[in-house]
Amino acid sequence: MSKTYKIAVIAGDGTGPEVVKEGLKVLQAVGKKYSLKYELVDYDLGGERYKQTGEILPDSVVDELRKVDAIYLGAIGHPDVKPGILEKGILLRLRFELDQYINLRPVKLYPNVYTPVRDKKPEDIDFVVVRENTEGLYSGSGGFLKKGTQDEVAIQTSINTRKGVERCIRYAFEYTRKRNKENKLTLCGKTNVLTFAFDLWERTFNEVAKEYPKIKTDYAHVDATTMWFVKNPEWFDVIVTDNMFGDIITDLGAMIQGGMGIAAGGNINPEGVSMFEPIGGSAPKYTGKNVINPLAAICAMGMMLEVIGEIKAGKSVEQAVIKALESGKIKSLGAGKMGLSTSEVGDLIAGIVAG
Ligand code: IPM
Ligand code: MN
Repeated sequence: MSKTYKIAVIAGDGTGPEVVKEGLKVLQAVGKKYSLKYELVDYDLGGERYKQTGEILPDSVVDELRKVDAIYLGAIGHPDVKPGILEKGILLRLRFELDQYINLRPVKLYPNVYTPVRDKKPEDIDFVVVRENTEGLYSGSGGFLKKGTQDEVAIQTSINTRKGVERCIRYAFEYTRKRNKENKLTLCGKTNVLTFAFDLWERTFNEVAKEYPKIKTDYAHVDATTMWFVKNPEWFDVIVTDNMFGDIITDLGAMIQGGMGIAAGGNINPEGVSMFEPIGGSAPKYTGKNVINPLAAICAMGMMLEVIGEIKAGKSVEQAVIKALESGKIKSLGAGKMGLSTSEVGDLIAGIVAG
């Protein structure tokens, strides 16, 4: 008997529920086609709940989420809530508590998609960023001294453990091997200035590299990496980097692949529960207008299927997105500029998946 997957759905704030709805519409079509059995469990988390009840993420919910097969997330962030409360209280807390130590962010220019990088084609922009997702500057280590005085000191420490760095680098090597494209892994760091943190990263990278003689290795400073994303994106196959650098370079990555409307990410615990999301925010100004682009959320759902082991089904979602873009029916990836509504894009992809 085939397994029934339990999928937690956190639609969240702003346009989150609208894009998640389309992702689930496509999931339904894929499920039918590939005979997948799944059960959805909705979790009402986000700005509205916080405003009404003061609750951010109850411990009991975290415990329930530990037991699901995957989490599908829309967006977190509310215009009436001070920045940081929901992001740290929901998104980062889940990444940390569920030990989702990889943030996997493909940067791929699909056909017919506008890139601001002139002269670059789909074959030039196709790489994946493996971002460490539980340590670095995000670990919450630090504090204030003499806060509010002229002598104030603010310290925010980047935590890099051998274990954390090594497991991320190992994942990146394995991913590069399985991807089997250029078989090239680039470490992105700042070894010329951050001579402690990236010394550990570089030594670990070189040690693990010995176990992968077929993978070519490379190194790029983070500042140069941003330059090359624009000038020579075709140089990259897989990039591994720390949490903060990964955060920054993947926003640039999203822009060269056509914008936040198409950029998907997975917060992955290879031994546990993973969470999939469009990497854009809650887009309050487009909320409720049926104009936001659901493709990133749809791609995140495809990635979810691949990671839980439904590889064929997952790949069929990406193929459907490519077909839809090739058809020219989606005029642009920007909110309100697609020539179709949010739900029409969902219908289009679901229709292609169904065949
Ligand atoms: C992302 C976001 C988050 C991050 C924020 C919302 C905490 O920018 O997923 O990239 O910095 O990781
Ligand atoms: Mn970010």
